[in-house]
Amino acid sequence: MAKIAILGYGTVGSGVAHVLDENADRVRLSAGENVTLAAILDLREFPGDPHEELVTHDYQTILDDPEITVVCETMGGVKPAYEFTKKALEAGKSVCTSNKELVAKHGCELCDIAKQHGVSYLFEASVGGGIPILRTLEGALKSEKIDRIEGILNGTTNFILTAMEEKGASFDEVLKKAQEMGYAERDPSADIDGHDARRKIAILGSLMTGSLVDADEVPTQGITDITADDLALANELGGTIKLIGSCRLGENDALEIMVAPFFVPAEHPLASVKGVFNAVAVHGNMLGTSMYYGQGAGKDATASAVVADICEMVRNAGHTVPTSLSGQPAKTASSADTARRFFIRFKSADKDGILDAIGGTDKASERDGEAAVLTGCMKESELAQKIAGPNGVTKWLRVLDTEEE
Ligand code: HSE
Repeated sequence: MAKIAILGYGTVGSGVAHVLDENADRVRLSAGENVTLAAILDLREFPGDPHEELVTHDYQTILDDPEITVVCETMGGVKPAYEFTKKALEAGKSVCTSNKELVAKHGCELCDIAKQHGVSYLFEASVGGGIPILRTLEGALKSEKIDRIEGILNGTTNFILTAMEEKGASFDEVLKKAQEMGYAERDPSADIDGHDARRKIAILGSLMTGSLVDADEVPTQGITDITADDLALANELGGTIKLIGSCRLGENDALEIMVAPFFVPAEHPLASVKGVFNAVAVHGNMLGTSMYYGQGAGKDATASAVVADICEMVRNAGHTVPTSLSGQPAKTASSADTARRFFIRFKSADKDGILDAIGGTDKASERDGEAAVLTGCMKESELAQKIAGPNGVTKWLRVLDTEEE
């Protein structure tokens, strides 16, 4: 029997206990032995909870218990999760986590410490909630040269954009609902300003390249500037707007990585991903594009990914499950020289001048004196030159084209 401890009994931590209870038989089959919850660390008490007697406020009792071999860190944030994780690994316990902030910042170091102590550090739930995307990259797709990963990586912002588009609901109203449903981060700016997606794409970019992508260096734009009008104009042009985490290999295998709202054509598979769902499209040199879809946030879905890590670590007790995180800094490139199409917005009155400047277009959408078009393919630096000056472009977004186009 393997004994585990949960650090942080919030949404995900209590979800882990719930999944272990509900799926005890399946967990035993996957882990190869019974998995028993032995301790829960939290500052609070949980009267009435089925596991209330396991709650402790003293981390040392967990560290000192030789029977606890796996620790689930579901606290979130860097402090004290970083110190607690290091101590558990140094005490010879494997650690799994849903904490993307910690993985993005210290994942490589924590994997090294795990290796030194013959244990594992796994973090499936840190990206894409319940979607087993990291395990897929590290396993089934390991022999592919992955040159492109694009994903809807934040459930809250996708929930907000979908509701604004479909119901005409206000931004604030939908954000409140996402928070009530347990999707949003405690600090909503982590979601709406793109920081949560930034950390997730940095982890994906690191695994894709086997080098270290510094999450703090990823150019990031959130969705607070996106309006219901933008979405309506985008719909008229045959697409929608999604917050996309994107990383792709360019010339000399330099990584172009960013988080930004993109115009997504309706025929792109990511366009149909609605509500709190996430999806990750992965392009491999032999495989072409494959896409992984599922709940990107929420208690049980995220906990399911944590439990998958628990089972893998129990199965592999006594040695380290390898990961592709490495300390070698990734070679990155700016997006300025990438050629793509753009969605641009302007006042209808400025239309003729703008069409002249960008070299014409097939179709314009217009409503209430506002207009939008999709440009032809050009470099971002070229677009900047064409729309420089007082010609009235009020907003531009990149278009997410498929590799095959
Ligand atoms: N706040 C995050 C989201 C939770 O909305 O996707 C999972 O990281």
